[in-house]
Amino acid sequence: MSVAEAIDWEALREAAREAMTKAYVPYSRFPVGAAALTVDGRLVTGCNIENASYGITLCAECSLVSDLVMGGGGQLVAFACVDGNGGVLMPCGRCRQLLYEHSHESMVLDTVSGLKTIDEVIPDAFGPRQLEQYRDSQS
Ligand code: THU
Repeated sequence: MSVAEAIDWEALREAAREAMTKAYVPYSRFPVGAAALTVDGRLVTGCNIENASYGITLCAECSLVSDLVMGGGGQLVAFACVDGNGGVLMPCGRCRQLLYEHSHESMVLDTVSGLKTIDEVIPDAFGPRQLEQYRDSQS
């Protein structure tokens, strides 16, 4: 069974909807919730947290990654994100990069065009491997 088939996607979307109810969005009034599963089966969640200095708003994916790291870290295998109506929302460009950093290579995301792998959502990504290759080329 593939990773995508093993996941209860509706339960993951529901966890994202629950997280979305915690969003702090006095400026945009656009609540977002995110939920993900780790390789070892933990559920991590996040919501967007805005700021009067608009540009430093934390996306839901930011607080999800904080939850991941504070809970012991690890790699993500499945991810879902919803808007205030509970519908599927695509992670913004910055957050695709953020998720890539913490992804397992098999990671699958619930997207507006169906289930997609992390490589499909952020192709030819820049990541930890590029930094490692550069370091190796210098030694
Ligand atoms: N937002 C997220 O939380 N995640 C995304 O991937 C897209 C955008 C938030 C940021 C801001 O609080 C609101 O949605 C409107 O842009």
